[in-house]
Amino acid sequence: MCPFFSSPLPLPPPNSLQGRTLLITGANTGLGFATAQHALALGASTLILAVRSTSKGLEAKTQLLSTPDLVEKEKKGEISVHVWELDLESFDSVKNFIAKIKRYVHEEDGRLDAAVLNAGLASVQWKVTGDGWERSLQVNVLSTAWLALEMMPLLLRSRTKDTSKDKARYKQEGNSDWKPHLTILASDIHKTARFTERDSENILKALNNRDTWAKSQKLAGPTERYAVTKLLDIYITREIARLVPRDEHGEPSVIVNCVAPGFCKSNLLSREEGVSCVIKVVQWLTARSVEEGSKTVIDAVVREVESHGGWVEDLVVRDPGKIVTGPGMERVQQKVWGEVFDVLRRDEPGLRTEY
Ligand SMILES: NC(=O)c1ccc[n+]([C@@H]2O[C@H](COP(=O)([O-])OP(=O)(O)OC[C@H]3O[C@@H](n4cnc5c(N)ncnc54)[C@H](OP(=O)(O)O)[C@@H]3O)[C@@H](O)[C@H]2O)c1
Repeated sequence: MCPFFSSPLPLPPPNSLQGRTLLITGANTGLGFATAQHALALGASTLILAVRSTSKGLEAKTQLLSTPDLVEKEKKGEISVHVWELDLESFDSVKNFIAKIKRYVHEEDGRLDAAVLNAGLASVQWKVTGDGWERSLQVNVLSTAWLALEMMPLLLRSRTKDTSKDKARYKQEGNSDWKPHLTILASDIHKTARFTERDSENILKALNNRDTWAKSQKLAGPTERYAVTKLLDIYITREIARLVPRDEHGEPSVIVNCVAPGFCKSNLLSREEGVSCVIKVVQWLTARSVEEGSKTVIDAVVREVESHGGWVEDLVVRDPGKIVTGPGMERVQQKVWGEVFDVLRRDEPGLRTEY
């Protein structure tokens, strides 16, 4: 919807994230940065900004803590913002990040209440990472899935870390039903994906083949690869949601969902070579601000159990469409998930799906 004619989206109640620790990937700019701002405004006490450039992350931290109120709170130790390096184009970097956050939770008395897997890119050109994967496939899909799987046990632990004082405070604030969340940034662009590779013997192998990529981009248009990676993010969300253990009420102990923030005025398109000027003009004319778009991300982070495994768009859990829920797509989703897991297990043989 045109931003000039739409009313601002609501934010959750002011204490919704009181005392919580959030990890946000790609938090130095765009939707990730705006999500971090909202999280602090809603009472989060600790943010872990996972960024590929520490200097950009430190700049973002300075900007986040630029009000006298937050500076004072940081001085008193009431809030803290950590800047940790994470480059999703490198499995080694992902591995180091995972080791660091595990140490933080297991050895340094830290906790993790929500993980927002936001970092992503929308490249229209063929580029291969040092690990041998097409860039957006590794960043948006493989590394994101790896992080999601490894964050799960840390999120599960968060509930056991609430002290009786914490529990009393949450109850007083009407916040005691809150559950840890794993939220992945999806999009609505997945509905445009042709995803012709879906019938291949090995889907990831087909997606990682330059000739197949060129054919698909020619057939379906320049945004095809981005759309496919965002589609796979929905599959990943649905598969990981199935792995979550149930609590004493039979409900998932961690809420896993994905969110489409709507078309937003970030640098997602301008930073990539080869994106058409027409799309950039359409973005300028029709897209939301990142402050608005990130309200949908924050909404997903505090959403109730009805969003588990779901795709949330404009603050509503919706059917993600035929390419996800249509005939035969469940089988494709499971095949993709099996292949993603096989790839990750090659780098991390200890990776688990039982919690
Ligand atoms: N903007 C939209 O219209 C829109 C719509 C639907 C979904 N989304 C999704 O929203 C998410 C955020 O996008 P945005 O619009 O905020 O874009 P953005 O302004 O371009 O921000 C992307 C973030 O991801 C980080 N990132 C990119 N590659 C990375 C890597 N290899 N390792 C670690 N971090 C990396 C960037 O870090 P650097 O600054 O260091 O590059 C930046 O912090 C993406 O997943 C995107 O697909 C956006």
